[in-house]
Amino acid sequence: MQNQQYGFDTNEINPLGSLDEWEEDVLERYPDPEVETAKKSKEEFRNYETTVRDTVKEFYRLNHRYQTYDFVKEKKSNFLQFNKREMPVWEAFNFLNQLVDDSDPDTDLDQFQHLLQTSEAIRRDGHPDWMILTGLMHDMGKVLCLFGEPQWAVVGDTFPVGCAYSDKIVYPEFFKNNPDYSNPDYNSRFGVYEKGCGLRNVQMSWGHDEYIYQMLKDYIPEEGLYMLRFHSFYAWHREGEYDYLLDDHDREMLKWVKLFNPYDLYSKSPNPPNIQELKPYYESLIKKYLPETLKF
Ligand SMILES: [Fe+2]
Ligand SMILES: [Fe+2]
Repeated sequence: MQNQQYGFDTNEINPLGSLDEWEEDVLERYPDPEVETAKKSKEEFRNYETTVRDTVKEFYRLNHRYQTYDFVKEKKSNFLQFNKREMPVWEAFNFLNQLVDDSDPDTDLDQFQHLLQTSEAIRRDGHPDWMILTGLMHDMGKVLCLFGEPQWAVVGDTFPVGCAYSDKIVYPEFFKNNPDYSNPDYNSRFGVYEKGCGLRNVQMSWGHDEYIYQMLKDYIPEEGLYMLRFHSFYAWHREGEYDYLLDDHDREMLKWVKLFNPYDLYSKSPNPPNIQELKPYYESLIKKYLPETLKF
């Protein structure tokens, strides 16, 4: 099938069998230090090395090739109008769950289950309620896939565009195929930015993080907004890169982004949360912070 927007074959444009393949790859790179091995059993990951690896690699090849400065600007001017859909928050979880893929239904949780496992883990540890809500909402931006966006424009580690790429970003060699790589406006250390300009002035590669941040920026405290916007910016929060773009506020907020990350990566469990039981709590939490409907 041809993708209208991009003119590629759909399988070529979406190499991942499921969005979870990217997250499994992140987990391999950053395994839970409290778990002896992130691989729960050899059986579960039996074909990971041979099958998932190739698809993830292809996914990053596309991501690094096409996430240009201009691409980000174009996607923002389109999606940040939020004129696609409008629905109550609870309905939006069902909408997100339309994201079905060919992953193994026995081992994979749906998107809403991942959100609830993240928020419940945050809640168990006694963090503030806005952080629980942040956990609940953090991957809502993946609905971009349902608007026909390719996987590489929805998930993947994020990075600043418009300046040189860190070699700590996964598969840095693929950036050589990005036109910005050889554009002198964009390929110096600071590129279009000034030293210490602060991440608020930096354009990040486009995907579910930026989208949900923009959607909720008037409703969630600043610390939560950093968690939303930068949760896939591993080169920053895990590798400590891009210090020269940061201001003091970013440095202050980094600890919150770091606090959030383990709940996203390590809260997955095979026991699905009891949605009906949890619903009243989350409905009141949503009511406290969010408007009746969300605009997509
Ligand atoms: Fe995410
Ligand atoms: Fe997540």
